[in-house]
Amino acid sequence: TMLPLADDYGRVATDLRVSLTDRCNLRCTYCMPPEGLDWMPLESQLTDDEVVRLITIAVERLGITEVRFTGGEPLVRRGLVDIVRRTAALDPAPETSVTTNALGLARTATALAEAGLTRVNVSLDTVRADTFHEITRRDRFHDVVAGLAAAQAAGLGPVKVNAVLLRGVNDDQAPEVLEWCLERGYELRFIEQMPLDAQHGWDRAAMVTADEILASLESRFVLVPDEEPRGSAPAERFLVDGGPATVGVIASVTRPFCGSCDRVRLTADGQVVNCLFAREESDLRTALRAGAGDEELAQRWVAAMATKKPGHGIDDPTFLQPDRPMSAIGG
Ligand code: GTP
Ligand code: 5AD
Ligand code: SF4
Repeated sequence: TMLPLADDYGRVATDLRVSLTDRCNLRCTYCMPPEGLDWMPLESQLTDDEVVRLITIAVERLGITEVRFTGGEPLVRRGLVDIVRRTAALDPAPETSVTTNALGLARTATALAEAGLTRVNVSLDTVRADTFHEITRRDRFHDVVAGLAAAQAAGLGPVKVNAVLLRGVNDDQAPEVLEWCLERGYELRFIEQMPLDAQHGWDRAAMVTADEILASLESRFVLVPDEEPRGSAPAERFLVDGGPATVGVIASVTRPFCGSCDRVRLTADGQVVNCLFAREESDLRTALRAGAGDEELAQRWVAAMATKKPGHGIDDPTFLQPDRPMSAIGG
């Protein structure tokens, strides 16, 4: 019997986002401090078998049809290829994808494709090596370029690129990032920065808005809204210079899409998080390790959806950023 992951507002989660580690090999200024964070103790982290067990319950009993692996940086998780293989082999087979910074992807793209991975989204905020170093605090631009090319060559496409613009850092680079992606056949999306950084330094006034991003792109390109139905996709898409190539904006803050949200998250330490901005979590790890059966775990998961809020509430005067930063929830 199938138990849907329904909330109190008529939304049903079919897209599971699984964070496989809170660790990362970059130190993006808008995400975490230069010294990194107090990483999750490894004994709290679900083992490969535990993650696969929970994913199996989600796919077989809870109606999950898409599984996205995130981090931190999911490629630093040793078991990634094996976890992907076991996920892709489930019945009914879910769509599987990875959201990654692409460091090391040049080495693993083929293995991921052979394991059954459908596609990858790569985070890349600039196409200048010096700006990349300034934002990520690591001099690794060329590894990302190689990772992207390897993913495309391995058939992990359509490859999408996610870019965050930071005022005074790369906010004047949107057109050149788009040009670069168009030349290579990557589907670019610009993301509004959300209050999910570990330093709690997000500033609404400093955020580069979707309207600003579109105005900047329109200085070089003709953009026409894509007529394809958007469904629950966070990105609004525009045809570039008549198409068929598109560019997207993910306007989480100024044009929220919470009303059509179909997502639920599982953290690397086995907590169900029903929204990026949820302040409460539902602990599946403790029950799992105490020997709970699949039916009980499924019921706990369903119950975790009951506290899902109608929206993120960023504009509410009482808004409080969640304690868990983006790097430990998964993007
Ligand atoms: P596809 O287009 O299907 O590949 O997926 P996607 O856009 O959902 O995936 P991706 O992991 O690339 O996410 C892109 C960005 O969307 C993330 O970095 C977040 O900034 C934003 N995002 C993802 N999920 C959510 C969400 O649940 N709420 C909000 N507000 N933003 C989200
Ligand atoms: N707001 C929006 N996007 C963010 N990302 C990281 N932190 C934030 C934030 N505060 C993006 C990364 C990457 C994806 C995993 O999430 O740039 O593309
Ligand atoms: Fe790592 Fe992603 Fe955070 Fe950058 S934004 S430090 S790539 S987890």
